[in-house]
Amino acid sequence: MESSLHRLREVIRALPQGLQDHLERVRESALALATIHSVPLEAVELAALGHDLARTYSAEALLARAQEWRLDVHPVEEQVPILLHGPVAAEMLRRQCGVEDARVLEAVRWHSTAAPGMGPVGLVVFLADKLEPHKLRRSPKLTGIAEVAKVSLERAVADYLALEMTVLLKEGRLVHPTSVEARNHLLNALAEVPDA
Ligand SMILES: [Fe+2]
Repeated sequence: MESSLHRLREVIRALPQGLQDHLERVRESALALATIHSVPLEAVELAALGHDLARTYSAEALLARAQEWRLDVHPVEEQVPILLHGPVAAEMLRRQCGVEDARVLEAVRWHSTAAPGMGPVGLVVFLADKLEPHKLRRSPKLTGIAEVAKVSLERAVADYLALEMTVLLKEGRLVHPTSVEARNHLLNALAEVPDA
């Protein structure tokens, strides 16, 4: 049987070149971070390459697919359907590429908002997506978070979420409650680490 990675590569080949390039950059950033933190590389590679499979879908298409596949749709996602491109991509990975690894599906599902209790594969892919070289170049503020990510995945995700929420609040936009819960969870987890 063809491997999931092989099938995923086939699906990716049909995506726009710009998106393919982004996926390759995220793959590289994710594998580098995963190596530093001893996170399983095979799961990270699948999630990094698959996280944006539904990124080209329109708002209508995302909502229709979510409904067709009976995915949970939060009211904020109804209003901001682009937030569904992770959940829809996770389902595509499962259906089209035969991915059953819960660590991979979780990482893809939550790569836009993060989620409380997200595992190391999810943390790595979340950060690699936000901190890939092109995005770092566009936003110098992210450079500090990229340095933190080399030391603590949890601290870096908490810092990124704080930065992103600050922008959303300033611009009067909706904040997904799962991001708030994810940050709260991370802060609690970090506080449990005793001082050195
Ligand atoms: Fe992405």
